Amino acid sequence: MKINTFEEYKKVYKESIENPDAFWGSIAENFTWYKKWDKVFSGDFVNVNFRWFKGGQTNIIENAITRHLPARANQTAILWEPNDPNEPSRTLTYGELDKEVSKFANVLKKLGVKKGDRVGVYMPMVPEAAIAMLACAKIGAIHSVVFAGFSANALAGRLNDAEAKILITANGMIRGQKFIPLKEISDKALEQNNSVEKVIVYKRLHDIETPWNNSRDLWWHELMADASDVCENEKMEADDPLFILYTSGSTGKPKGILHATGGYMVYAAYTFLNVFQYNEGDIYWCSADVGWITGHTYVLYGALLNGATTLMFEGTPMYPTPARFWEVIDKYRVNIFYTAPTAIRALMAKGDKWLSGVSLDSLKVIGSVGEPINEEAWRWFYEKVGKGRCPLVDTWWQTETGGIMISPLAGITPLRPTYATLPLPGVLPVILDENGKELVPEDNAVEGYLAIKQSWPGQSITMWRNHERFIKTYFSEFKGYYFTGDGALMEPDGYIRIIGRVDDVVNVSGHRIGTAELEDVINKHPLVVESAVIGAPHEIKGEQLYAFVIPVQNIEITEEELEKEIKKLVAEKLGAFARPEHVQIVSNLPKTRSGKIMRRILRKLLRKEFDNLGDTSTLLNPEIIDEIKKGLRI
Ligand code: WT7
Repeated sequence: MKINTFEEYKKVYKESIENPDAFWGSIAENFTWYKKWDKVFSGDFVNVNFRWFKGGQTNIIENAITRHLPARANQTAILWEPNDPNEPSRTLTYGELDKEVSKFANVLKKLGVKKGDRVGVYMPMVPEAAIAMLACAKIGAIHSVVFAGFSANALAGRLNDAEAKILITANGMIRGQKFIPLKEISDKALEQNNSVEKVIVYKRLHDIETPWNNSRDLWWHELMADASDVCENEKMEADDPLFILYTSGSTGKPKGILHATGGYMVYAAYTFLNVFQYNEGDIYWCSADVGWITGHTYVLYGALLNGATTLMFEGTPMYPTPARFWEVIDKYRVNIFYTAPTAIRALMAKGDKWLSGVSLDSLKVIGSVGEPINEEAWRWFYEKVGKGRCPLVDTWWQTETGGIMISPLAGITPLRPTYATLPLPGVLPVILDENGKELVPEDNAVEGYLAIKQSWPGQSITMWRNHERFIKTYFSEFKGYYFTGDGALMEPDGYIRIIGRVDDVVNVSGHRIGTAELEDVINKHPLVVESAVIGAPHEIKGEQLYAFVIPVQNIEITEEELEKEIKKLVAEKLGAFARPEHVQIVSNLPKTRSGKIMRRILRKLLRKEFDNLGDTSTLLNPEIIDEIKKGLRI
């Protein structure tokens, strides 16, 4: 499965595009299947009805845990570093992981969870989060992990949409110095839910009171105490759902992106091995949270499928000091380190002194994901952390793609700062103009919309109970293509630079936030008539959220008070990470005759491109520009 040279990459890439069935079929041979597939790719990409490895039967746990035994029984599967560096760390070998996952799988079964049932996971970064997810996969239940930074309201929306039967949470967690009462938040969410029958609570914190509902709540440790550690892997069809993960889009409601068993498994394993050039015995650390797709594919599945040792970190880069990442790398002698540009920029801003007491000599490969990495941050990461000797892989992908799509292969693909470089085997990216015409770079680079022209095994197959919206969101703008929502530039040699979202999605610290969802929340405030949320550049977060708000007339509170209330409302309804940085109160917004907000103009104003507002001939109220400009908060 592993590519070893750039020449080989080029050869494999060509074959993979010309004959994807032969290519992915041969990769899939490296996994354990209970029954071989009838067809590698079936269905139809253009009409959005596609399946990978149809007819095949497997279980991702068979491949991520079971088949590593007994050979790897004593090898560490999961290393865990707690938030507080003085608390003992933990390790789980593949043998122990197998037993814990089997036990929890039996717990779920006893509670009546069956293949196809949905299980919500709202957990801190502890091994039990991994055990919960893997146990679901083992029995064919569909996990739906909700990032622990989401509010009660956001959690409820996701549990309701998935009709989750069980919720797995913890009594609380501490990240940095911030306490998050997960159980209290869960209780609040469940006031608005009627699908969840039981709540399983992991006791992460020992000195807090945990609110309790005797008829519904169960302690993790009590259930596990008498569970058997033997459990069979459920036989799954290759196209049976593995998990749902909600992500924001350009309309209000979060989308339940669904990944299927066989294709996701093959793609997660293949991309992990090749992008990071993983070698047997490497210690691997991806700093993402399991609440996001990066945590699913590259903290857990991709790593475990390759029999790797994966580090889970509960804390933050800044706690107790900005040296924490580097200390953790030294402590575990991490070889491969995968993180986000926002963390890199935040640490860079703290100065190089935090790097002076550490060695980092174990590092071999470093990686970045989640948003464009600017040249300064790229160079700092490459020089100061990688010491100029570790390839830096800038990996572009999305929740919907399941795994990495465009990225260097570490040590193989020549690097170029700010470029995600070249597509992985099986991935056919194109640049489209607004009419859907493919732009092919000849003498000069081309810039436009990034789309993918043929299916790959990691591709999400549908949206949870909403295939229509799946088609509408990704396949209707440009017929025959999967549209990514990103803008990109392609050089004549094929190198790709991702520019950023071209839809109404803002990428704040690598977190994707739909502005429509945010506006829906803000507009619910009784003093708000209308709002527009726009992304503006931010030095550390990449982008920041900036809200323009039209209040009702004669409000009796000050603008500052209204701003505070709006921020509080967003934290309550969505989560603190989605709070707008600035709220500017305006008397109106730039609109067309039909009443549509001209977001393009707001975007330009926030970028201070006052002399370059573009075509304003359809603007109904040009006088508003000056007012907004004068009131700008950045
Ligand atoms: C969006 C997907 C996939 C893991 C984390 C985010 C942006 C992702 C890069 C990169 C430039 C990137 C895109 C994409 N993005 N990686 N290397 N360079 N932009 O997953 O929440 O589904 O967000 O993140 O805009 O569309 P996600």
